[in-house]
Amino acid sequence: MSLQNHRAVIVGGTSGIGLAVAKSFLAQGAQVIVASRSQEKVDVAMKELGTAHGYVLDFQDESQTKQFFENIVTFDHLVVTASGGAAREPFDALSIDDAKAAFASKFWGQYVTVKAALPYIKKSGSITLTSGAYAARPLKGASTMVAINSAIEGLARVLAMDLAPIRVNVVSPGVVDTPVFSGMDTESREAMFQRAAQSLLLKRIAKPEEIAEAYVYLANNSYTTGSVIQIEGGAILTGI
Ligand SMILES: NC(=O)c1ccc[n+]([C@@H]2O[C@H](COP(=O)([O-])OP(=O)(O)OC[C@H]3O[C@@H](n4cnc5c(N)ncnc54)[C@H](OP(=O)(O)O)[C@@H]3O)[C@@H](O)[C@H]2O)c1
Repeated sequence: MSLQNHRAVIVGGTSGIGLAVAKSFLAQGAQVIVASRSQEKVDVAMKELGTAHGYVLDFQDESQTKQFFENIVTFDHLVVTASGGAAREPFDALSIDDAKAAFASKFWGQYVTVKAALPYIKKSGSITLTSGAYAARPLKGASTMVAINSAIEGLARVLAMDLAPIRVNVVSPGVVDTPVFSGMDTESREAMFQRAAQSLLLKRIAKPEEIAEAYVYLANNSYTTGSVIQIEGGAILTGI
């Protein structure tokens, strides 16, 4: 119970990796608050999480996010796993509007969240952002996604300097089996998972709980800051 009596806010904690982080933090004794846009997802997550608190929040909305943290007041750990879709198309196929929309969600959403949360995070606390393995192993044809993930890691390194002693780190997952792929039909999704798995050293894609362990480590370990934890089954060595 290493996070006993710690308060943690997980923006994006109603699905996939964020939901697994919420479960892991609860198992370590933390008081957990999760937030995301959809009331339905918040309600379903609350049933799974039991003792956590859940709120509706769009982290792209600055005033809503500021108000959210004003209501939360002081807490220990901020985790951001929210992201509203990827920009997978190649440079010449992706419109500038779609590229900006992807940045507005994953990059600016995390930026806005840290800015709004900062006055309430304890000096002994931590901030953990989320990037993705493409930052370390760029994928041909995914320039926007690579740029977003690289920008998040760059932001976190400087925030680790600017906000110390608050610790700031990033988790960078490879392919993980989460609802982010629920828009694909089952056959295409399984085929994509198989292809991805074959190119990995560990020959399988990750489960959300395996990624969640990194967020628990980063909340707990009082000497880790400015780090990116890569959990990608060997993708960086072998290609995704
Ligand atoms: N799964 C993978 O293979 C993979 C690989 C590399 C990196 N990642 C990264 O890991 C993170 C988590 O991904 P995941 O696979 O767990 O995705 P997921 O299952 O789709 O969960 C995303 C969460 O973000 C919330 N969200 C989306 N837009 C939001 C907004 N504007 N404001 C507040 N909450 C918002 C969603 O809930 P609502 O819809 O209710 O808002 C949901 O709770 C993302 O940053 C993703 O890019 C994932």
